[in-house]
Amino acid sequence: MIKRRGFFSQAIGAAVGTTTLANAQPRSKPFDLQGHRGARGLAPENTLPAFARAMDIGVDTLELDIGLTKDDVVVISHDPVLNQDLARDSTGAYVSERVAIRSLTYAQLQTYDVGRIKPSSKYAQTFAQQQAMDSTGIPTLESLFEMVRQRGKNQLRFNIETKLSPLKPEETASAEVMVRNLLQVIEKNNVAARCTIQSFDWRTLEISQKLAPHIATVYLTIQQGNLNNVGEALQGRASAWTAGLAAKENESLAAFIKRAGGKVWSPFFRDLTQALIVDSQAIGIAVIPWTVNEKADMERLLAWGVDGIISDYPNVLAEFKKAN
Ligand code: G3P
Ligand code: CA
Repeated sequence: MIKRRGFFSQAIGAAVGTTTLANAQPRSKPFDLQGHRGARGLAPENTLPAFARAMDIGVDTLELDIGLTKDDVVVISHDPVLNQDLARDSTGAYVSERVAIRSLTYAQLQTYDVGRIKPSSKYAQTFAQQQAMDSTGIPTLESLFEMVRQRGKNQLRFNIETKLSPLKPEETASAEVMVRNLLQVIEKNNVAARCTIQSFDWRTLEISQKLAPHIATVYLTIQQGNLNNVGEALQGRASAWTAGLAAKENESLAAFIKRAGGKVWSPFFRDLTQALIVDSQAIGIAVIPWTVNEKADMERLLAWGVDGIISDYPNVLAEFKKAN
């Protein structure tokens, strides 16, 4: 684990709007360096090689996404449907149809290769440093736990995102079925103490709290023009994204998350200000933004005192943390 600088040395002298540093709480937990989808900037996302790379870099936590196959196998995939820029069928052709992972058995899913981004895609340009690894499949969550166990990484943590949308229920398992199957794999592998469950769809967090109150839940938010999963709720309206919950008048997002039972707030990093971080930490909600890939953004967020950072380039973050 990387040791953080003392909270007050990070925060002193910073402008925090109307928030005062009197609200600030010294943090008890060390900084949490999370490898996004393993280490997406370096190796094919959400695959065993990407997780191995993140482990070699020395992350504290592997960030990953899950879905369920037709036969209820918990697999690691960001997209509920096969990603057409990633998935090649047994003939070597990139898929061109919309194929839901939930519509395939695990045996069928295994026939797809996700080890090389489609070279002509914009996605390939975005992750030009990513090292392709042909013949790499979509892994099961269980196989990741097994690999981590074999490498003796008994402190490594898992930040597991349930990928589903209240607006597209036909594409995935239901919230309840997804959480039950996820918890079964976590408990079977005896890693509950090292897991958090995160989601933009707060239904799964509510269900997880009921079924497994010992597992901390992480509330994901994005407040951008193209997607705002808490916009309605913050205006006092019950929203499908927030499990039917609405914020009270003048309730901050952090206070809303706390009332919903969350322990961690994971916002899109561009939605954050230092005042929001200080206010959130003051009520005991840790702040771990995603997905931070530029050094300047890492530097600013670290100076603001975030509790962790999720990055596609955990190597850059690790080096930056070591040097500062
Ligand atoms: O950890 C949160 C972050 O992973 C959310 O973004 O779309 O990469 O899953 P996404
Ligand atoms: Ca994710």
